[in-house]
Amino acid sequence: MMRVGLLGCGNIGHLIASHTDGFEIAALYDQDIDRARELATATGGTAYDSFEAFVDADVDLVVEAASVRAVRAHGEAVLEAGKDFVVMSVGALAEPSFLDRLRTAAVAARRRVYIPSGAVMGLDNLKVGRIGGIDRVLLRTTKNPASLGLSITERTLVFQGRADECVQAFPKNINVSAAIALAAGQTVQVELWADPAVDRNVHEIVAEGSFGDAYIRIRNVPSPDNPATSYLAALSILVLLRDLAEPIKVGT
Ligand SMILES: NC(=O)c1ccc[n+]([C@@H]2O[C@H](COP(=O)([O-])OP(=O)(O)OC[C@H]3O[C@@H](n4cnc5c(N)ncnc54)[C@H](O)[C@@H]3O)[C@@H](O)[C@H]2O)c1
Repeated sequence: MMRVGLLGCGNIGHLIASHTDGFEIAALYDQDIDRARELATATGGTAYDSFEAFVDADVDLVVEAASVRAVRAHGEAVLEAGKDFVVMSVGALAEPSFLDRLRTAAVAARRRVYIPSGAVMGLDNLKVGRIGGIDRVLLRTTKNPASLGLSITERTLVFQGRADECVQAFPKNINVSAAIALAAGQTVQVELWADPAVDRNVHEIVAEGSFGDAYIRIRNVPSPDNPATSYLAALSILVLLRDLAEPIKVGT
């Protein structure tokens, strides 16, 4: 059975730990050791209070469900320790120089970095952009003002521009646009709307290219334990872990 090291024992970490179908969580690490210990008790894994000991544990891959900072601080060390690396905080890969370093470390260690589809349905087919070419990708995100830290009483466009500029203005919106940019292999135009009438995170993706055109609209329910995380994103990591062990793979 696949042995997983869990880096980050918060909302997504708990969800992974409660659906261990086809894998076991053998090692756990969190900057808050109590969280790692609590989840270790529930899973039968070992909680480590040092990252160095955690990364040397007998696991096949490390799943990051922590933060952009954790990916930047520990990503290369995970690969150098001979483990594959599953990244949830995909926004960390929006910085080209870090992405290059991670790729170099993966090639040198003959390991892989996996990025789940997260909150984005259709992410797999946006990869055709790298081959057939995509002329335009637009991400229109609509959220309740409260989840953006704003107090606005009517639907308002709060940002319009490139994804990397949006990240500076609204850093918590980085994951979806970074994942789309990585898949499509190009810059993503972003519109961010605050709308008090919505209780879900709505992502609309418009893509045009040699394949034709696509319009995808996803209305994500927040995770039961953390409204900032889409439930779909948490589920997508479970699918990725299951598929790693499957002999037949579906999707591009
Ligand atoms: N790809 C996607 O679509 C997607 C969707 C949702 C969330 N995410 C990302 O996944 C990550 C986890 O989400 P969550 O809802 O579980 O968050 P959470 O806040 O509930 O849990 C994060 C846990 O990681 C720990 N942590 C943070 N930084 C750390 C570090 N440097 N070293 C060790 N431990 C650290 C925290 O103590 C906490 O226990 C976040 O970065 C979030 O942005 C990605």
